[in-house]
Amino acid sequence: MDYENLQTEFEDGILVVKINREKALNALNKQTMLEIRYLFEAHAPDLDGLKGVIVTGAGEKAFVAGADIKEFEGLDRKAAQALAKNGQDIFFLIENFAKPVVAAVNGYALGGGCELAMACHMRVAGEKARFGQPEVNLGLIAGYGGTQRLTQLIGKAKSMELHLTGDMLNAEDAYRLGLVNYVVPKGEEIAKAKEIIEKTAGKAPVAIAKAIKAINAHFNEGKQAYKTEHELFGALIETDDFKEGVNAFVEKRKANFTGK
Ligand code: CAA
Repeated sequence: MDYENLQTEFEDGILVVKINREKALNALNKQTMLEIRYLFEAHAPDLDGLKGVIVTGAGEKAFVAGADIKEFEGLDRKAAQALAKNGQDIFFLIENFAKPVVAAVNGYALGGGCELAMACHMRVAGEKARFGQPEVNLGLIAGYGGTQRLTQLIGKAKSMELHLTGDMLNAEDAYRLGLVNYVVPKGEEIAKAKEIIEKTAGKAPVAIAKAIKAINAHFNEGKQAYKTEHELFGALIETDDFKEGVNAFVEKRKANFTGK
């Protein structure tokens, strides 16, 4: 697929994806959502030696300022429901992606933008980043998973407050509340995200994928997630990487994982 609204760069095993609609503060229109779907469904899984994906926004001002509000005009109930369901499905692809996905939040992450960042496995915020779910200002609620993921990440009280007031959090408050993993000086978001991915890249790839799956199971399966955890643990014992990891430990050397 030729991307209209994404810029991608694959270097040293890391795919950096920039949402590139700077004039609309990188708002997620239909075409952009289509491209994000393709990227996580077909493009990224196909890359040889992929260590992880970084999602960021073009320009100085915004990560992503939300779904494209201009495309909401004229939608009826059925179309709006389908739009939200489609957004949720695309963000599930990110959440369930088998390699680490890190959001490098370089500015406003509002509405669908905050939801995009939250669907990523981790978040690095630049010091000027702002997070919020301002949909109530439009007579709406979040539709791409925001009511759920913000509650998971920062708890019910603060999630309620942000969704009901439409207020924005600054980067420091987002860090304090556990919404972001790191706050870095402006312009250093991608470098920090790369550093995190590089750290994970030395670990066993199948274990990384299963860890993502087991952690996500907490939110999708409730207590059943413990079962998922022990089943995945069992499956990992049979991998070559487990044998290599143990041998390397005993032989006091660095493990050389093959992903098998
Ligand atoms: N959709 C479409 N266009 C958007 C947009 C969005 N979400 N956010 C910003 N833009 C456009 C503006 O319309 C403007 O375009 P024009 O120059 O053609 O008028 C351009 O980006 C620059 O924006 P502003 O002039 O508004 O910039 P600002 O610095 O004054 O304000 C802002 C920045 C506070 C982020 C403001 O743009 C804003 O409030 N944006 C909307 C945020 C929002 O409500 N997001 C939620 C969308 S709904 C949603 O996401 C639902 C869901 O859960 C899926």
